[in-house]
Amino acid sequence: MQWGARSDTGCDKPLKALEPGGSVAGGPAARVLQSRDGTDQRSPADGTPGLREDNVLAPRRYDGRRMSNNAESFEHWIRTSFVQMNTELEELYFAQQDRSRVIGVGESIKHALRDEGHTHVIALRAEGNTGEGFDSAFGVLGNVGLYLGALRRHELTNPAREERSPFPEASSLAVHCGASLGMAPRFATAHLTIHNRARAGLRKSFTSLADEFLFIDENTRGILSLQRAADALTSIVHLGVSNPAADVMFEAAKHSLQEMIQVNRRLAASLDVERFFHCVRPYYKPYRVGRLEYRGANAGDFSGINELDLLLGLCRANDPYYGQLLVDKLLFMLPGDQARLKECMTRRSLLDELLELLPEHAATDWFQRNARAFLEVCGLFGRTAAQHHDELVKRFIERPAARLGEEQSQGLTASGPPLPVLLRALEVLRDLRVAADRPDIATRHRDLARLRAALR
Ligand code: HEM
Repeated sequence: MQWGARSDTGCDKPLKALEPGGSVAGGPAARVLQSRDGTDQRSPADGTPGLREDNVLAPRRYDGRRMSNNAESFEHWIRTSFVQMNTELEELYFAQQDRSRVIGVGESIKHALRDEGHTHVIALRAEGNTGEGFDSAFGVLGNVGLYLGALRRHELTNPAREERSPFPEASSLAVHCGASLGMAPRFATAHLTIHNRARAGLRKSFTSLADEFLFIDENTRGILSLQRAADALTSIVHLGVSNPAADVMFEAAKHSLQEMIQVNRRLAASLDVERFFHCVRPYYKPYRVGRLEYRGANAGDFSGINELDLLLGLCRANDPYYGQLLVDKLLFMLPGDQARLKECMTRRSLLDELLELLPEHAATDWFQRNARAFLEVCGLFGRTAAQHHDELVKRFIERPAARLGEEQSQGLTASGPPLPVLLRALEVLRDLRVAADRPDIATRHRDLARLRAALR
């Protein structure tokens, strides 16, 4: 993975302007559409709802008068027409015998998506304003990222066959926003989960497919659960692991991890494998911004999961493998999360604290109580990690990928490496978190066993 992307500002297309009154030139009024049955349909120019101007998806009319600025206009497009076009394309792909076939399907919709998004990008890039506060710049970064992610999904760009992004304006807008925020210049998990502000209940998404919303909502709940567990353990750092009052925070951590277990169960039981694999996951592929390729977002791009790893002591920042993983994911996190993770890396783990106290204090009530609670938290955390790998990754990625040929499996993962390599890396993380008895990696298996042996 590479950082510090150079902004790619060469513009090879004529700029489209916003029309007087705010409607986008070549936008909804003039758009040629392809419906589900493949026929072309034209969105009416008189403002009556057309194929895309669906009032369910568009809480505000796209008439420009209520759009206060370019950023809001882009936001509205992303929440309405963009979603509708992606959904229509997904239905076209999904209806085919070969659901992975994308090239040559729904071309007029793809071109409308590309051109309408481009118009918004041009207006925002010309405005050059990321100074309206964090939320505004973060929102634009997410929207341009969703746009580029969709272009990648629909094969209008593919890093494997290009040396630079064919979308230089979107790239330079993304780089500008990303650099000003201190984040990678692409959409991050937070854009679709914990910083995905609902408008009258509607969250941002690529499509309006039920399975995408299920995935986004459960990922959000999962991240929130792990964040709560991490908050609880952070309180114990300040209390000290020998503090009798730590019991309430161990309880809070256990409760949050039990919620995470429920999230994973719901996903495993309710998410449709085919829909997820063919219509949701492909939006999380890597893509180029300027010349550099950035890995896709995944639900792990928040600090809470690593705070848990480090505070429990199951993973260590001085382990070269794990330390590199932390460095690699830092810029995919919100700046606040980056700061939390960096601070957490300077802490001593609760496990190391307990092991140091063990020889002298193992017989005391506080040691017995807190060591037991600590081991319970570790057990629950390990269960969430095992679920992630053995149920979610296996069921939703590994098995469906096995049914595809090698060529179609390429570019399947969010981080980019071939699937078997990614699976081995995820297996290592699972085994660190369950403290497996694996001599080839530095798990805490023996240390946990020592602690367990000290319990009455
Ligand atoms: C259907 C559900 C899910 C599937 C199929 C899935 C699959 C994956 C895959 C394949 C990766 C590796 C990223 C890549 O492609 O390069 C990953 C990473 C990750 N996912 Fe999930 N995931 C799911 C849901 C969740 C949920 C609900 C959470 C909890 C918040 C989560 C947490 C993580 C974390 C923390 C990582 C980073 C690697 C790690 O630290 O373990 N995932 N996931």
